[in-house]
Amino acid sequence: MKTGIYFETEAEIVSRKVEAEDIVSCVLKAEKTADTFKPGQFITVQVTAKNLSVPVLRRPFAISSVDGDKIEFIFHVAGRGTDILKESIKNGRTLKILGPLGNGFDTGDLSKKKLLIAGGIGIAPIKSLLEYYDAKGKPAVLLWGNRTAGGFFDTDHYSSRSSKFVKATDDGSEGFSGNVVDALESGEVTSGSDLSEFDIFAVGPEPMMRAVSSYLDGMGLECQVSLETPMACGMGVCQGCAVQKKDGSGYLLVCKDGPVFFSSKVKL
Ligand SMILES: Cc1cc2nc3c(=O)[nH]c(=O)nc-3n(C[C@H](O)[C@H](O)[C@H](O)COP(=O)(O)OP(=O)(O)OC[C@H]3O[C@@H](n4cnc5c(N)ncnc54)[C@H](O)[C@@H]3O)c2cc1C
Ligand code: FES
Repeated sequence: MKTGIYFETEAEIVSRKVEAEDIVSCVLKAEKTADTFKPGQFITVQVTAKNLSVPVLRRPFAISSVDGDKIEFIFHVAGRGTDILKESIKNGRTLKILGPLGNGFDTGDLSKKKLLIAGGIGIAPIKSLLEYYDAKGKPAVLLWGNRTAGGFFDTDHYSSRSSKFVKATDDGSEGFSGNVVDALESGEVTSGSDLSEFDIFAVGPEPMMRAVSSYLDGMGLECQVSLETPMACGMGVCQGCAVQKKDGSGYLLVCKDGPVFFSSKVKL
């Protein structure tokens, strides 16, 4: 899904919520971004703090949901930038954002079943896709894996917008005991249906996307993945987010050519 129109917005913070340990969601008023958004696209957020003379580079986050003129993003506090962001998000303040950036998911033919697989905070872009299919009257199957039960949040929302919602935990503390590939292998997720009947999307930590892609590859199938390569400009200028093409014929830019790619096209 090619796009290319983006806006720089001083977006009003409408709400902020601590969803789980070190996971925060934020709703912003950003009418133009909301209007042109496609599931899978992202924003970059200018992180600033009073005691810093120079702002930190913009940080990229998936747009996880759109409601009218409002957009939501959900982030894991991973380091300095997200730590500052967590503290600086306050109702009534503004955030400088750029977006929507990148290409969204190829949402495909609605007659085909959809299987969405999220690992950890990979649920953020998956949420927008889940809501897209639900709004089209074709709810998708959702498989969400986390290390432990503490990684899940807002599960009623996901459950009510999916045709089937399977949770998996590495430590067996909630849902299926094992990782998302174990869950796929068990047949529980697709209720015994062949995976070839589904368009498949997987977003999460790189090892998880690699494992899902390699499992599907073994069956002659592919999926769409969304890459979270560290970025500087976010707009195709600095070449800092290049990933190798799978056939070795060159590089693709995650910010401009992605972040969504078919697993057959990129080296994971
Ligand atoms: C297109 C895109 C969409 C993204 N969407 C989301 C999202 O919806 N929610 C979310 O929580 N995160 C998302 N990320 C990752 C997020 O941008 C990083 O976690 C964040 O920039 C880290 O900033 P920091 O200053 O807190 O961390 P830093 O202090 O810069 O780094 C802290 C740690 O995080 C790691 N890190 C830094 N950047 C990234 C990155 N891009 N991906 C993975 N690890 C990183 C570093 O290697 C280091 O270990 C996305 C990234 C991209 C490229
Ligand atoms: S982040 Fe600069 S080219 Fe992608």
